[in-house]
Amino acid sequence: MSGALDAHASPFEAAGMTLTDLPLPVPQETFRQQGAFLSVAQFLPANVTAQLIAGTHAVWSMVNRNYLPGHKQGGSVSRHVIDQFAPAIAELYRSPQLIHWLEQVCGERLLPSPVDDPHAYALYFYTLPGDHIGWHYDTSYYEGRRYTLLLGVLDDSSCRLEYRLHTRSQNTPVVAGAIQIPPGGLVFFDGDQLHHRITPLRAGEQRVSLTFEYVTNPQMRPLRRFISNMKDAVAYFGFRQVFSQLRAQRRAPR
Ligand SMILES: [Fe+2]
Repeated sequence: MSGALDAHASPFEAAGMTLTDLPLPVPQETFRQQGAFLSVAQFLPANVTAQLIAGTHAVWSMVNRNYLPGHKQGGSVSRHVIDQFAPAIAELYRSPQLIHWLEQVCGERLLPSPVDDPHAYALYFYTLPGDHIGWHYDTSYYEGRRYTLLLGVLDDSSCRLEYRLHTRSQNTPVVAGAIQIPPGGLVFFDGDQLHHRITPLRAGEQRVSLTFEYVTNPQMRPLRRFISNMKDAVAYFGFRQVFSQLRAQRRAPR
């Protein structure tokens, strides 16, 4: 793990993380039939999942908790904290192998979200009884589509991702489902197509999941950027994580 050979290795390489064995064949037909939704219970290699768990513990003390009555209760850590304290997770987000696999699934070119998007990669912590998120879409504020990738990190809970497929399709009946996302498991969907929620955590349980956001066009109109930042500040990461980072980026030499 350490030593001279690792002196110039990235956090990803230094941790012995490789993504050469992602599941094949790529299930693009399943994704299409399910209205731009896919789940794979065993997706990541075990050593990669282990690094996600280690990264989660590295940022645990920096969780920002939120409570929006009737909609959401839980903790979050934004990309800005992950960049500083769990860089292997940031590197997994940019993994060419991972992105290529996802592009094959959805049939579109995927781009990382811009550096000022705190949601580009983030950890969600369900640690107190009642932690949950209500029914919603992962609405794209971008000019193009927004795809969400969820990766299971820790799950000692009864929480389920409940979803409804085809809600925005004229001709296809709605299909409802519920799944657990085990450590290393994957869920991938078009944010504007999947109606979904996470059911409430019970006492004595805990759950952590990782979200990656990819876009097909990273342009965003200024008003939408403002609305998106306000939503992220109130519902997820707090004003300090969202707006102090923006100020730092504006001050930085370009
Ligand atoms: Fe969501």
